[in-house]
Amino acid sequence: MEQIIIRRATIADAVKLSAISIQTFYDTFINTCTEEDMNTFLKEYFNIKQVKLELNNENDFYYLAELNGKVVGYCRWMEDYTNFPVMKQWKSLELKRIYVLEEFHGKGVAQQLMNFVIQSAKKNQYQVVWLGVWEHNYRAQKFYEKYSFVHSGHTHDFPIGSTAQTDCWFWRFL
Ligand SMILES: CC(C)(COP(=O)(O)OP(=O)(O)OC[C@H]1O[C@@H](n2cnc3c(N)ncnc32)[C@H](O)[C@@H]1OP(=O)(O)O)[C@@H](O)C(=O)NCCC(=O)NCCS
Repeated sequence: MEQIIIRRATIADAVKLSAISIQTFYDTFINTCTEEDMNTFLKEYFNIKQVKLELNNENDFYYLAELNGKVVGYCRWMEDYTNFPVMKQWKSLELKRIYVLEEFHGKGVAQQLMNFVIQSAKKNQYQVVWLGVWEHNYRAQKFYEKYSFVHSGHTHDFPIGSTAQTDCWFWRFL
């Protein structure tokens, strides 16, 4: 595959970022909830106004993986203990998202993004990286395990609208 460029997203990327977020979330989770719940969730979390708000926050880090100028995946991280206060005992980074378009799964794009996340976390003296993954998202779990993430033993509710779902907190100490 040709070279993937990883770069920090800017406000000018809001439309692209919203589009890839909607597509990847839909493709991944559509069979796990109702169409109505899905649409409500996509509108609430991935609308352009919301994405712009996040891009304007200098502590909210979005990085895009581009192939020939096309965004094929992205990751998002932040030092944010809101959803898992247990992590406050360490300097911790939450990997909030790592999403790659379906046609690029298994092609090394996610690996490049993950290597970048780990390198950046180490460079900034983080002690641990953690993330939430749906209990039945076996592909993602296998991917994280390849990068030495393990189930922390903690879970949390991650409903999609009225559909209850449980996410597992995985972590990797650096
Ligand atoms: C999660 C994601 C970033 C991983 O990237 P990827 O390119 O698919 O990852 P890889 O192919 O390197 O690794 C996935 C592994 O899971 C395995 N796998 C695939 N389907 C599986 C399944 N149903 N059960 C268990 N393992 C599975 C693959 O064989 C592969 O392992 P291998 O390299 O040992 O063969 C990507 O799949 C993605 O963007 N998914 C949609 C969004 C998502 O779920 N994001 C994570 C939310 S927490």
